[in-house]
Amino acid sequence: MKITILTIFPEMFEGFINTSIIKKAVLQKFVDIEVVDFRPYTKDKHNRVDDTPYGGGPGLVLKYEPIVDALKAVKTEDSYTIMMTPAAPLYKQKQAHILSKKEHIIIICGHYEGYDERILTHVDACVSIGDYILTGGELGAMVVSDSIIRLIPGVITSDSIESESFENGLLEHAQYTKPQTIDGLSVPDVLVSGHHENINQYRHENSLIKTYINRPDLLENYNLIEKDVQILNAYNSHKRED
Ligand SMILES: C[S@@+](CC[C@H](N)C(=O)[O-])C[C@H]1O[C@@H](n2cnc3c(N)ncnc32)[C@H](O)[C@@H]1O
Repeated sequence: MKITILTIFPEMFEGFINTSIIKKAVLQKFVDIEVVDFRPYTKDKHNRVDDTPYGGGPGLVLKYEPIVDALKAVKTEDSYTIMMTPAAPLYKQKQAHILSKKEHIIIICGHYEGYDERILTHVDACVSIGDYILTGGELGAMVVSDSIIRLIPGVITSDSIESESFENGLLEHAQYTKPQTIDGLSVPDVLVSGHHENINQYRHENSLIKTYINRPDLLENYNLIEKDVQILNAYNSHKRED
């Protein structure tokens, strides 16, 4: 897989590409990351890539020409182009899985007040990483790239992906590591019991309650079985007693 990022701040990606799992994925050729500065594509004699918005208003808007020319230079028939923008559906793990199967993903990073809307005629999808405004699309491009790269088979073990938050509709259960007791805090007994069925049951309950507390919206699309309803009812009556 190849990921091409169009940005006017290519230096922002140095740490991302040269650290940890992403660095390893690049070195092992699971992914090729190409960062392209679209400023050299401008035809403006002052090297500007932005201009004032038609209709007036604050700030500057990225121009059509440099972005679309850069896009045309890197695009192939296998490319899938994404525009980073808060004015889009929220990015989810399901989409990361779909994107991880693409041959070539191009991510355009907006900046300033945004970009000329006509650029979207060259784009396959708009992606928002959350209900907040960032200075530019660069951090979002890293978020999206990271989430895709770790799903490429071989980059990390498939076992760790399967048990992660969102994979089965719930948040992941709590995790612990050595030592068994620290500062008077102990690991739940069941996790050191060696009884796999009980461990799985405990983890499912923990996962369910964590989701109920932190992301009840996820439960709207989760198929709760009778046992799950009992777990949540028991949690609620226990909470009321507290
Ligand atoms: C300051 S923002 C522009 C926001 C725009 N004026 C609006 O209100 O929708 C500049 C750029 O940062 C990126 N950006 C900001 N927040 C984002 C988010 N939540 N998700 C994805 N990209 C974002 C986009 O590329 C955007 O064009």
